[in-house]
Amino acid sequence: MSRDMGHQNRNNYGFAMDVVEQTPTPFYYYDMDVLHKTLQEIKRLIEGYPYTVHYAVKANGNPQILNTIAKHGIGADLVSGGEVTAAVEAGFKPSDMTFSGVGKTDREIRIGLEYGVGCFNVESIPELEVINQLAGEMGKTAHIAIRVNPDIDAHTHRYITTGTADNKFGINLEVLDEVVCHAIALPHIHLRGLHFHIGSQITLMKPYVMLCETVNRLLDHFEQQGISFEMVNVGGGLGIDYDAPDEHPMADFASYFGTFKRHLRLRPGQRLHFELGRAIVCTCGSLISRVVFVKENRNKKFVILDAGMTDLIRPALYEAHHTIQNLTSNNIDEQETYDVVGPVCESSDVFGHDYQLPVTRRGDIIAIRSAGAYGESMASCYNMRQLPAAVFHSNH
Ligand code: LLP
Repeated sequence: MSRDMGHQNRNNYGFAMDVVEQTPTPFYYYDMDVLHKTLQEIKRLIEGYPYTVHYAVKANGNPQILNTIAKHGIGADLVSGGEVTAAVEAGFKPSDMTFSGVGKTDREIRIGLEYGVGCFNVESIPELEVINQLAGEMGKTAHIAIRVNPDIDAHTHRYITTGTADNKFGINLEVLDEVVCHAIALPHIHLRGLHFHIGSQITLMKPYVMLCETVNRLLDHFEQQGISFEMVNVGGGLGIDYDAPDEHPMADFASYFGTFKRHLRLRPGQRLHFELGRAIVCTCGSLISRVVFVKENRNKKFVILDAGMTDLIRPALYEAHHTIQNLTSNNIDEQETYDVVGPVCESSDVFGHDYQLPVTRRGDIIAIRSAGAYGESMASCYNMRQLPAAVFHSNH
């Protein structure tokens, strides 16, 4: 189900309560005004710079979200044939698409070549050779960037760190020369540049400064060998504030783009590409659910929701913290400590341990905030549950 509504009566946390109360739970509530503001802020900060932002569709592939982002003239970063097709349908221009991923199948590579994606981010020599061969068979040239593993620790959760030497992503620095020369020599490959991505939910700028220094060093190194690149792609990863969604409804884009403006020495004519997922869509989305039961065991009180790990798996999978709010009662003078859990038959189906909430009752409406990224897109039907619905709200 999907609905568009425009209402003025927002509660303290910015929710249109009539929409929230009338919609069967659980569902994702998207505040499209927040998404618009975020996209405008990005455009404002990159204006006048040779920068291109691609939206990492894996963060949220909801067609209405994709349409909105495509209309703002942003590109798309894709990791499967399905995402390439969805992005084309949503109106993204193939020339503004990057196609990433360590295990692209022949079928997916053909889809990318057929549409003419702007850049395949290539992660290994076998992949480079297959893309060259398939492009040759189809009478096409594949535009590519080589994904470099810069061996930078972004100090984020171990499951979402990607830029250190011992994980599966990218080409290690010691073999990069060889791979670049190999790519240049292949007849159906056009090497556009280098690609990096150091991890996700990064809130400190230090890892990005280190990335800029690595990029500068590599560009100097290749220039000395007479090799220049038309673009550099620094990936994504900018984090958001999961602890204070109302105080910080937007990622710190000014510091992020400012870091690259200050530290990365682009060469004349060179473009810098970004692949942001979470920072674009996370804060606009909340998972809304109802309290099914409040239950007391010997040592604990449980708030049992009708939303579970099938709707939002991040807490179960990464021990991720999301702010939880009771939208029915915000009486902060009467607080209780609860474990906020879902109905799924798994002990990990917990949204918050020992969480302070106003005294909560059966039927109360609960919002789990900052769920716009990697929420709906990672939902499953485990326990034969239905996929969560989505509602889009805007005052304009
Ligand atoms: N580019 C590449 C090559 C990526 O692998 C990713 C994310 C991005 C861009 C976008 O990263 P972002 O700006 O969204 O951080 N499911 C996890 C996050 C996995 C991120 C995977 N790669 C979570 O819920 O935290």
